[in-house]
Amino acid sequence: MSATQRAVLIRAYGGAAAAEVADIARPAAGPGQVLVRVRAAGVNGIDWKVREGYVRDAFPLQLPAVLGIEMAGAVAAVGPGASRFRAGDRVMGPLGRLGAYADFVTVDETNLVLTPPGLDDVHAAGVPVAAVAAWHSLHHAGPITAGQRILIHGAAGGLGGYAVQYARRAGAEVFATAATAHLEYVRSLGADHVIDYRTQRFEEIARDIDLVVDYVGGDVLDRSWQVLTKHGAIVGTSSPDILARTPPGRRGLWFTNKPDAALLERLAAEIAKGTLISKLSEVVGFDGIPAAIERNRTGPRIGKVVADFSR
Ligand SMILES: NC(=O)c1ccc[n+]([C@@H]2O[C@H](COP(=O)([O-])OP(=O)(O)OC[C@H]3O[C@@H](n4cnc5c(N)ncnc54)[C@H](OP(=O)(O)O)[C@@H]3O)[C@@H](O)[C@H]2O)c1
Repeated sequence: MSATQRAVLIRAYGGAAAAEVADIARPAAGPGQVLVRVRAAGVNGIDWKVREGYVRDAFPLQLPAVLGIEMAGAVAAVGPGASRFRAGDRVMGPLGRLGAYADFVTVDETNLVLTPPGLDDVHAAGVPVAAVAAWHSLHHAGPITAGQRILIHGAAGGLGGYAVQYARRAGAEVFATAATAHLEYVRSLGADHVIDYRTQRFEEIARDIDLVVDYVGGDVLDRSWQVLTKHGAIVGTSSPDILARTPPGRRGLWFTNKPDAALLERLAAEIAKGTLISKLSEVVGFDGIPAAIERNRTGPRIGKVVADFSR
């Protein structure tokens, strides 16, 4: 085996050109880790935010740094003390750090689950962060109960598509904002009320809301306080300063995702069975990753974009 491998990395923070494909040394699994041969990796909003240096205070990096936070592949080697997997096992998961855009990556075995037989690597790679983050962000302010009125901003995106399904299943009345072209998709996931954020003002349609889940941030967050009931809450994943922007007497919560292998295992099994919809909108090859990261920042988005390393 070659001692080097392909990777998508940044040598300095910057714009679209800062992410490049380069050869780097192949890692070896440490204690409690497995070495995974990555077959596919999911593209996430955090990729361009890391690239630009927006989150350098929250996630200080030693540069150069390989981007990518989730993947699916096969176990290539098992490190000392790791016992959950064997070489050849198909696995999927979040890394809990960066490095997924490389042919091989070391991962703490506790982050990983076996990829269900009915789920191919390309579909599996886009699941670990969005499906788990959507679940935990939806429940971050407390349990969801039947009859609650929930507004989900960014409902067509990676997290939003799952959150709509989870909320609907719990018996909530779901209001969902999305772009014009994505409204039918969001409705098909179970949203009771779809709101076109390009032509309608959500605050004129969604009122007496118990929970806002904000996957967009910015002025969408600032405009959302007025739609809440007296005891309603906003959970945000996009504006880390949500606490500072929470008006007196209001409840605003910042959400930070963490790996949760038990939950991922359950959700991946549902996706494999077809009882939970996981939307893949685009598959790119390895060399297309830097452009896909930039499109996540600028372009219209529905579901997930995944890089297939065999392309
Ligand atoms: N804090 C954490 O731990 C954590 C974890 C995961 C993700 N995140 C963050 O959470 C956010 C959502 O992640 P994601 O992966 O779901 O992103 P995504 O796939 O890019 O989805 C975002 C969605 O928001 C839509 N959108 C944009 N402007 C909107 C508006 N004004 N109103 C309603 N929808 C709007 C986009 O649709 P159009 O394309 O039509 O504009 C897109 O479908 C990102 O900011 C991501 O970085 C945070």
